[in-house]
Amino acid sequence: MTLAITPSTATTAVPAVVGADLRVPLVTGERVTYANLDHAASAPCLREVRDAVDELLPWYASVHRGAGFASQVATRVYEQARDRVRKFVGAHASDTVVFTRNTTDSLNLLARSVPKGTAVVLFDSEHHAALLPWRGPNVQRIPAPSSSGAAIVALDRALTAAPVGPRLVIVTGASNVTGELWPVAELAKVARRHGARIALDAAQLAPHRPINARELGVDYVAFSGHKIYAPFGAGVLVGRADWLQQAQPYLVGGGATAKVTDHSDRLGVAWSAVPERHEAGSPNVVGVHALASACEILSRHWEQTVAHEQELLTRLREGLRAVPGFRELSILTDADKVGVVSFTISGFDAGFLAAALSAEYGIGVRDGAFCAHVVVGRLVKQAGSHEERAVRASIGLGTTAEHVDRLVAALRTLVTEGPKWTYAQRDGRWVAEDDGRTLPPFLA
Ligand SMILES: Cc1ncc(COP(=O)(O)O)c(C=O)c1O
Repeated sequence: MTLAITPSTATTAVPAVVGADLRVPLVTGERVTYANLDHAASAPCLREVRDAVDELLPWYASVHRGAGFASQVATRVYEQARDRVRKFVGAHASDTVVFTRNTTDSLNLLARSVPKGTAVVLFDSEHHAALLPWRGPNVQRIPAPSSSGAAIVALDRALTAAPVGPRLVIVTGASNVTGELWPVAELAKVARRHGARIALDAAQLAPHRPINARELGVDYVAFSGHKIYAPFGAGVLVGRADWLQQAQPYLVGGGATAKVTDHSDRLGVAWSAVPERHEAGSPNVVGVHALASACEILSRHWEQTVAHEQELLTRLREGLRAVPGFRELSILTDADKVGVVSFTISGFDAGFLAAALSAEYGIGVRDGAFCAHVVVGRLVKQAGSHEERAVRASIGLGTTAEHVDRLVAALRTLVTEGPKWTYAQRDGRWVAEDDGRTLPPFLA
């Protein structure tokens, strides 16, 4: 895996995000700078991505369909984005690049495209987007291993037992629960030895580390624009064209069709070739341009990005370890990780902590089971909690040392002194009582 970047001290500036100086209200009536520690859910827009979108907007016009000059420009932008993304993930020139809505859409498309009877092998720690499209008798779910070595052995064993015929392994690049990096290159080697293809869910890897599909030996890569600082509604599936070319489109309509003919009793449809075959409807050229621009911007800054995030991650973990009752969730205990830390604090409900961090400290974190119910349920139980919920703090380009320090200090205060406000549970969510925080004027 191309991850050999040595973190240097994070002195060089990383790309700036929109909303870095956003001020949010507290329940006390004060306003503070927002500490966004929820990058793993959706990352803020990069300023350069916004500039790229601004540049495109005057030229915005229909893609593929118009003879007008602006249409030709928009079509060129859309088609060029395929090469920009192909380069970002180090794909083969022959790989197809299908634009989708997000990683979920990409993985569902792949699931609908595999040949009938394909044996699918995956770990049960996958995000629901990667876990749920694959169910049924041909699917082997491997219980989440506790180390990278155990993952490789378990995959080897599962593939040895898999039936003859087409085989596909699904694996995440970085866990959305723990941020741990999976040994993708080694797993791909095992897959290849057993004649299996391998698909990489890169939703959490793509914002944090360079990806080279050829070097990794993966056949498909899926990720989302909104997690790589391009929140304009586009995602992508890159990979081998043959299965996708043989598959019926799972979304049908204009753009996916080469020719429709009326046979009076039925319609005859000749579907387009990939990638258009799986891109029915008007393409999201703004989203795709934003996604491709983000790919290029990230590619220019890996060294600074990795250094920045690793420095903050170390600061965060060291700070949190000193909070009484803190337990960090971990799947692959020997793995390096990107800036994601999920944890429980004994005696405190995760939802309460997240609500108080927002209401009293202006900090945004995630609480719950992070669309990975199976593994979070197991890890939380191992951490000694009865709730199937944890708190997740996630770092990205918009994170500062002050955000990290504020979170650590806030948790320490909440745990040792309790909240300064009252909270209640409504409809299963913790909320601040008498919450007078006002919404921004554009919502008034
Ligand atoms: C590892 C992983 N895979 C897939 C997804 C799904 O991404 P999206 O919601 O953009 O479809 C996520 C989202 O959190 C994720 O973290």
